[in-house]
Amino acid sequence: MCTFVAFKYKSIMSKRYTITAALPYTNGPIHIGHLAGVYVPADIYARYLRLKGNDVAFICGSDEHGVPITIKAKKEGVKPQDIVDKYHAIIKKSFEDFGITFNNYSRTSAKIHHDTASDFFKTLYNKNEFVEEVSEQLYDAEANQFLADRFVTGTCPKCGYEEAYGDQCESCGSSLNATDLINPKSAITGNVPTLKETKHWFLPLNKHQQFLKDWILEGHKKDWKPNVYGQVKSWIDDGLRPRAVTRDLDWGIPVPVEGGEGKVLYVWFDAPIGYISATKEWTAREGKNWEDYWKDENTTLVHFIGKDNIVFHCIIFPAMLKAEGSYILPENVPANEFLNLEGKKLSTSKNWAVWLPEYLQDFPNQQDVLRYVLTANAPETKDNDFTWKDFQARNNNELVAIFGNFINRVVVLTNKYYDGIIPESSDFTLVDQKTLATIKAYPAVISSSIERYRFREASQELMNLARLGNKYLADEEPWKTIKTDEARTKTVMFVALQIASALAVLSEPFLPFTSDKLKGILNADKTSWEDVTNKNILIHSGHQIGKGELLFSKIEDKIIQLQLDKLEASKKANEVANKVLEPQKDEISFDDFTKLDIRVGTILEAEKMPKTKKLLVLKVDTGIDTRTIVSGIAEGFKPEEVIGKKVTVLVNLAPRKLRGVESQGMILMTEDEVGNLVFVNPDEDTVTNGLKIS
Ligand code: 2FM
Ligand code: ZN
Repeated sequence: MCTFVAFKYKSIMSKRYTITAALPYTNGPIHIGHLAGVYVPADIYARYLRLKGNDVAFICGSDEHGVPITIKAKKEGVKPQDIVDKYHAIIKKSFEDFGITFNNYSRTSAKIHHDTASDFFKTLYNKNEFVEEVSEQLYDAEANQFLADRFVTGTCPKCGYEEAYGDQCESCGSSLNATDLINPKSAITGNVPTLKETKHWFLPLNKHQQFLKDWILEGHKKDWKPNVYGQVKSWIDDGLRPRAVTRDLDWGIPVPVEGGEGKVLYVWFDAPIGYISATKEWTAREGKNWEDYWKDENTTLVHFIGKDNIVFHCIIFPAMLKAEGSYILPENVPANEFLNLEGKKLSTSKNWAVWLPEYLQDFPNQQDVLRYVLTANAPETKDNDFTWKDFQARNNNELVAIFGNFINRVVVLTNKYYDGIIPESSDFTLVDQKTLATIKAYPAVISSSIERYRFREASQELMNLARLGNKYLADEEPWKTIKTDEARTKTVMFVALQIASALAVLSEPFLPFTSDKLKGILNADKTSWEDVTNKNILIHSGHQIGKGELLFSKIEDKIIQLQLDKLEASKKANEVANKVLEPQKDEISFDDFTKLDIRVGTILEAEKMPKTKKLLVLKVDTGIDTRTIVSGIAEGFKPEEVIGKKVTVLVNLAPRKLRGVESQGMILMTEDEVGNLVFVNPDEDTVTNGLKIS
């Protein structure tokens, strides 16, 4: 909660910022994990900096090279270019519709990027910053291809995780070389790779070890997030090794130097250069100079990424920039941890995700709800879980019940009592004065959280301001004083309207659509972030506001159930896809088989075995007799559902007692693809009870 303690805080002064958000791989749409980890916090930060009057380049684009895209294209039988064209359009549009305010969203297949990345490589090559080396790399002879990165899986040498990739272990986060993997396996054919000689260019990270140590471990111990600092420290402490920056692939940016034929730049060499080329594309359009954003020491560079990208942004890219020599380095890399979904890791390939385009379709005009939930529950310091129940609760109990409710009351009462014209205030009570002073303190409190990359804290402070508004109205009860004290009611409404105006401004980075709507309702003049602190009055007596309009609406259980059903369907589809059949049992003789007496029967009666979950007691007409069979099918069927069912019965199974009831045979069952019990039943009408099955 905002306090009155004198607040030591040096706000960001107006200056130039380059804010980058990780370039998403273009092999699928954006999901909530991407949004919570990178794009929502980055957008809050960029919007905030702009509101404070800074010159901001907020940069992103599609990462269109790399093995995942080639693998997806192979799987779908299309070209990599088809895949990236499709998803680039989907991703770009969904970001726009979601209100992410990139100054430029480019793509790494753009000519300007190929040129920029090629030139960057040539500069380092000419400066002898690479080590050229022929070494043995993993090779899949059947696929006629070298295996690197995601083309190869195996056991992580650091943590023993068996599904580690050739470039990274997703379990412990270690950055790997394909040849580090234990028991490597080709992701293309499943074959065990052989070793084959090939030439590559390596960036000698070991050469930059001391610089990285001084710059990060000494220079940024206090201001970088502990999760980022800790990862970087462990890599540096382990000792950095040369890292190959070229690959034997045909999808990517051709290696632009002699001997580079048939090879491309490693995707993690070209992708971060994408930030530079996207900036160039934007500055060319705007008539600005790109170098101001990348080479001026007065510019602050900040990379927003997920935790799996830390090594690339804190070690490899800075080493590249340092080796080139004319670039600034990031001031901070506020990487987030991961977001899970309903307790399980998000996965594009397993369709375990909430996809942004689908969200936008299922929840039209509710971008801010998702922005808010992902911010309030952001995985800033540890992995967090997104659940649809929490989404509903945050919407209904916070956005609707606190923020929306306060604004609604203020707007409705102002219209009802004063035809929407802001009333004159008279003497302020102590409570009024304290409330007005508290409003003024909020920009600094929220700024301080944002500037320390604590977006969840910042969003909660914003909500606290709305809470303050609700409490003020509840305590001062203008709906009662209107009958007794006209002057007091006017003053209370005047103060409440100041809170509403402050909310309209301070919510902009977090809830931009709501902020716009609210500014529209208040018919507000332009008010800056600083005005909220510096001006005594934000909205004046005599000003006409508009009619009320609900900012948020309650989300009902059935809407949430639809989303849960979608996830359940995805889970089932995965189970089907991953279902492993049991291996065949040991061979038996024909004589063994003929010992089984299997007959057609019909269930005549059924009831639950008391005090059990699984057992039904059945009376079955086997054609030979009517007998009792106890069957473990009660979790799949109600008694009334099975009466009259034609079934297959093993009739000569030795009787045995189950819970005191003798079972004289067995009903044959199987399971469908998602594990539901199914009767093995002859469905021809002419097949009558007692007929033998052989
Ligand atoms: O992890 C990813 O999705 C990468 N495509 C991020 C690249 S960030 C930057 F370097 F381009
Ligand atoms: Zn590992």
